[in-house]
Amino acid sequence: MTGSFDVGEAFGARRMAGFKDFFQHASATRVVAGRDLLSSTGFELGKEGAHRVWLVTDKVIRETGLVDRVEAGVTDGGVEVAGVFDDVPQDSSTEVVDRCAAEAREAGADAFLAVGGGSVLDTAKIADSVFTHGGTAAEQEGFFLMPRADDEMGVPLPIAPLVCVPTTAGTGSEVSMGALVKDPVRKVKLEICDFPLFPRLAILDPEATRTLPPKIAAATGMDAMTHAIESYVSLEWNPFQEARSMQALRLIRSNLERAVDDGPGDEEARGNMLVAASLAIAIELGSTHAMSHPCGGLYGVPHGVANAINLPHVIRFNAEAGDDVADRYRDVCEALGVESGGSGAAVGDNLAGHLTQLVEGLGLPTRLSEVGVPEEGIPALVEGAMGDGLSLMNPREPSEEDYERLFRGAL
Ligand SMILES: [Fe+2]
Repeated sequence: MTGSFDVGEAFGARRMAGFKDFFQHASATRVVAGRDLLSSTGFELGKEGAHRVWLVTDKVIRETGLVDRVEAGVTDGGVEVAGVFDDVPQDSSTEVVDRCAAEAREAGADAFLAVGGGSVLDTAKIADSVFTHGGTAAEQEGFFLMPRADDEMGVPLPIAPLVCVPTTAGTGSEVSMGALVKDPVRKVKLEICDFPLFPRLAILDPEATRTLPPKIAAATGMDAMTHAIESYVSLEWNPFQEARSMQALRLIRSNLERAVDDGPGDEEARGNMLVAASLAIAIELGSTHAMSHPCGGLYGVPHGVANAINLPHVIRFNAEAGDDVADRYRDVCEALGVESGGSGAAVGDNLAGHLTQLVEGLGLPTRLSEVGVPEEGIPALVEGAMGDGLSLMNPREPSEEDYERLFRGAL
């Protein structure tokens, strides 16, 4: 242990290594991955107890013809389509969720099938909860606050079966127990996290990402990269997620650029990026996500783009916190094939430099000012990042001044 502001030293113990006092890891979603799976969607839905499924998607995906093919696969398997809700916008909201749930109820559905990117999947997850338990999307907010048996002390009550077909490789929402939509009234991202939100099944078929535009493949791929890196260095790190993050990074290293450069022609890269995104997703994140959430909430910056911009700045900041953290970034460098520079702040510099280059090469912006964030917006962004629960999981505790510096650096 060396370094004058080593967080481990300050707490009298190593915080980023050893056997922890406590951790919890859950991964409750069945995953099927492979080729030509869309035609067996109905067969798989049947195995999850679905009879009349409510299909949630957006208009862009519907226009590609993908939804028609999934619908045919549903009915082939003897499951009815109760209706299609294609009204999910790029940045979904509590209002959309409530409408989706109400229409599903009117249509007499008994299960949900989400075909889309993160916004569609998260809308379907929260709508399923509203559909099952009643109330409104805004009332669902919170961590581990969904209805439970025995006066809220017992098992969490299940929601209607939910099957997810991701059409982007990034958010990992198809295998996570978290969901997030904007609350337009309070102008914040409403976050929900609880065990029943694990979808019953995720279908990872590269056919579903074949028409993904390169810019979106790049942005969502960088979201997966951010999940893998942030969860690996989070104070809430655990060995299960470490293993997932490392394999995700290896897959991203060899497939992200291919999937962006020649998406339609490279099925292998698209398939591997779907797997990488599902491996990387975690609820244990940090300051990059805490900064990116208000960028989305206040200025509509796409989530993956915000992460791609903010991540290198947070890495440099964190790596200065001591050897515990820098050692973890060295593992990340190794998985990505980046020269780490040895120890301490140099590791952060090298990794951050590599990521900025990668982001540029993918054709994404590297500054917040390029995506509509004005300098005068910084105080509100700082407030948003400070108020985000993920800040508490960052390996170096950021102060308001730190966040101001980070946002200025990213501007
Ligand atoms: Fe994310």
